[in-house]
Parts: sequence; C-alpha cells; structure tokens
Amino acid sequence: MLDKIESLKSEALKESEIINSDKSLEDYRLKFLSRNGILSRLFEDFKNVDKESKGQVGKTLNELKISLQKIFDEKKSALDSENTADPDTPDLTLPGRTFNKGTRHLINQALEEISAIFEKIGFKVYEGFEIEDEYHNFDALNTPEHHPSRDMQDTFYIDSTGKDKKYLLRTQTSSAQIRIMEKIKPPVRIISPGRVFRNEDVSSRSLAFFHQVEGLYVDKNVTFSELKGTLNYFATEYFGESLKTRLRPSFFPFTEPSAEMDVECFLCKAKGCRVCKYTGWLEILGCGMVDPNVFKMVGYDPEIYSGYAFGMGIERTLMIKHGVPDIRLFYENDIRFLKQF
Ligand code: DAH
Repeated sequence: MLDKIESLKSEALKESEIINSDKSLEDYRLKFLSRNGILSRLFEDFKNVDKESKGQVGKTLNELKISLQKIFDEKKSALDSENTADPDTPDLTLPGRTFNKGTRHLINQALEEISAIFEKIGFKVYEGFEIEDEYHNFDALNTPEHHPSRDMQDTFYIDSTGKDKKYLLRTQTSSAQIRIMEKIKPPVRIISPGRVFRNEDVSSRSLAFFHQVEGLYVDKNVTFSELKGTLNYFATEYFGESLKTRLRPSFFPFTEPSAEMDVECFLCKAKGCRVCKYTGWLEILGCGMVDPNVFKMVGYDPEIYSGYAFGMGIERTLMIKHGVPDIRLFYENDIRFLKQF
C-alpha cells in the first residue's frame, strides 16, 4: 500500500507539470481527486489494511491527499490570474525603462564655475553679442585694418549689403570690453563668457567655433600686480591649491604690456609630458594692461584710468583639465562622453 501511495504521488507530480489549460486541469482533477479518481480508490483500499499498519498508512495517505489538492489549487489560481489579466493593466513585474537623466554640458559647467570664481571677488557677468560689427570686434580694440586677424580667412563676415556697417561673427569675447565701456563709467569689473567663431579647418584641436571668458577691470590706479594677483587667485580656485603659475611677455593689440599666463602642468606635475610638450607648463590665457588707445575709443581718459583685461579659451582649458583628446567630442552630443562630467 505504501508503495502504491508513493508511485501515485510521483505520477501526480509528473502530470501536474503539463497542466497549462482549464482542460488539462480538469483532467488532473478527474484522474486524481474526483469521487471516482485514484485517490478515492486508495481510500477504499485503506479499509483492508491490517490494524498494525493502519496508523502509518493512514497518515501517508492523508499527506498525499493534501499535497495533490495543493497542486490543484496552485495550478488553478495561476490559470485564473492568467485568464483575468487585463491587457490594459500594466504588468508591474516587468523590468522598468531606464531614463537617461541629462546633465549640464561640460562647457556650461565650466562657464558657470569660472564666472562664480570671479563673482566671489566682485566681478559681474556681462554677456556681449555673438554678431558684432567690425568696429567693436577689431577697430575699437586697436586692431587696425591691415592686422592679420582681420583677414577673411580668420573671420566669418556676414553679408552686410545695404547696412551702414560691416557685420561679422565675433572672433573674440574682447568685443564685450568695448560694449560695456561704452555703456558705463568706471569702475568696471566684468567677466564675459560666450561663444566665438573663427574660420579654421576642423581638426582634433580646432573648430570653427569655441568658447572664451573675457575679464576686464578698469578704475583709477589699477596695476599689473593686481592683474597678477587676480589671475593667481583664479588659477588656485580653478586648478587647485599647489599649482605654480607664470606670466610670459606676449603681444595683443589691445593691451600694453601684454602677457600670457601658464600654469604648471598638473598632469605630469611639471615633470614634462606630451600634453605640456615636455615644458612642464600649460598656457591658459592672454592678458595685459588695457591699451590707452582702447580707452580713447570709448571715451575714458587714459590719464585718469587704468585697467587690466584677460581672455581664456574654455575648450582648450577643459581638454587639459580632463584629458579630452579631441575638441570635437564636446559637440558630438554622445551621451557616453557627456555623462562622465
Ligand atoms: N582676445 C584674445 C584672443 O582671442 C585673448 C585675450 C588676450 C583677451 C589678452 C584679452 C587680453 O582680454 O587682454 O586670443
């Protein structure tokens, strides 16, 4: 009898595996659990079991009954919920869709960060115009007609037929210096971030547009050492505490004297590497004392006022800071690049 119970149990288990419809569930019920089913017959047989074995057999038989019923109930409820699933009800067990959360673009982050550093020491943000006239982009910045940067190759001119001025896409944020000085009297202390355009061949190092941040401070008795102090403050805030900086003499038409600022190469700790071309230094900006001719153009008296200006390229600085090998990566909008920052 115990053997019979055991084999019935494994048979029922096996058969339960193929239950996948109401019909097969009913077949299972009829075969094992119904009044004429195998289980009922076993209970009939149970009456003939001898007295000593009755306890043991009865217990096993009852357990069988319970487990066959349990199989039936589970299969039934699985089938019921399948049948009642509403096609419009969302299946909460499905894995969710992932949303790609956006971040601020690396360039905007840098423009904000740099502006914030200067705002802390009293600079205000002033945005100039991307479309400028020749006067504000060149003449007023002491860049005469024959200057190489006015050559058609470098500048995108806009068809200005019928206009009183020649318009162009600004090649430098320095034009914002003129715009602000035309508007207000000293003291002037502004920072001007924005996009500039140059007619350059596209390569890993240059594009037809990029970003700059311009700075200008004009007041009575502004000195070169103040320029140096301000730029050192900026370098420390932006690149980190321990970096050394240096100023090298240079030339810009709108500053006199002019200089370029280098920071110690933080990639190789000034030991010399490919990025700093084994010099240990990285150039980050141009600067100088505002040329008296520029003051005259905007009606400031150079005998009374002095000032300093500086301008830096953002993409270049970011490429150095984050080891970005190709300037085009900033504009491909590849999320795998952008979400690293
Ligand atoms: N405008 C210059 C350029 O595009 C950068 C620059 C140099 C800006 C010196 C300045 C400055 O204000 O003083 O290369």
